[in-house]
Amino acid sequence: MRSVPPAFPPSRYHVAVKADRTKWDARYRAGSRPHDGPPSGLLRRWLPKAPAPRALDVATGLGRNALHLARAGYQVDAVDISPTALREAARRARREGLRGIRWIAADLDRWRPARGRYDVVVNAFYLNRRLFPALRAAVRPGGILIFETHLVADEADGPAGPKYRLRPGELRRVLRGWNVLYTKDGLCRAGRRTLALGRIVARRPAAARTRRRR
Ligand SMILES: C[S@@+](CC[C@H](N)C(=O)[O-])C[C@H]1O[C@@H](n2cnc3c(N)ncnc32)[C@H](O)[C@@H]1O
Repeated sequence: MRSVPPAFPPSRYHVAVKADRTKWDARYRAGSRPHDGPPSGLLRRWLPKAPAPRALDVATGLGRNALHLARAGYQVDAVDISPTALREAARRARREGLRGIRWIAADLDRWRPARGRYDVVVNAFYLNRRLFPALRAAVRPGGILIFETHLVADEADGPAGPKYRLRPGELRRVLRGWNVLYTKDGLCRAGRRTLALGRIVARRPAAARTRRRR
């Protein structure tokens, strides 16, 4: 008997999303805990100098950075494609009695944050270059973007391939015109691992005043 193809075959996009979600969910269900542990040192160091009250954490994973933001009193939107990771992150937040985190299960290839909504945007250990313009736009004038992830390097641990690794100076170029508070590209120790990281903390310039014509 011939099998009948479905009337509406799944689009290439839906197949790709499902593959990503399945892949990450399977990793979390199998006990993989990428970057679990204390919140990012970069975030800990710079958050006290950041404005409040709204924050966005993209690719939040198990939510270590979203939880840190909530502990500091921020209202947080935390986005990830893996429902398994988000469930675990939400459980952790409940255990601590933390309110104010909205857990958003979404695909960052499609989901876009509201423009100018956030005082702080965090992107840690996730690289999606198509998201760059939306991340810039999501920070309100005067707000800050905290970004760190793997850098292209031969000798360091981390994901293979340039798709998931920053080029040296890339973050500076992406944030041209912003006030760079801190940036460093290079090797650093993370427990027993040596990671090559690109890191930046930058403030979006306050909106330029328009001159009134008399
Ligand atoms: C290495 S983990 C980083 C976790 C977290 N940012 C941290 O530093 O602890 C990468 C995360 O990206 C998420 N992710 C991968 N592709 C995604 C996509 N297309 N949309 C949303 N999240 C995605 C994964 O589910 C995973 O939780």
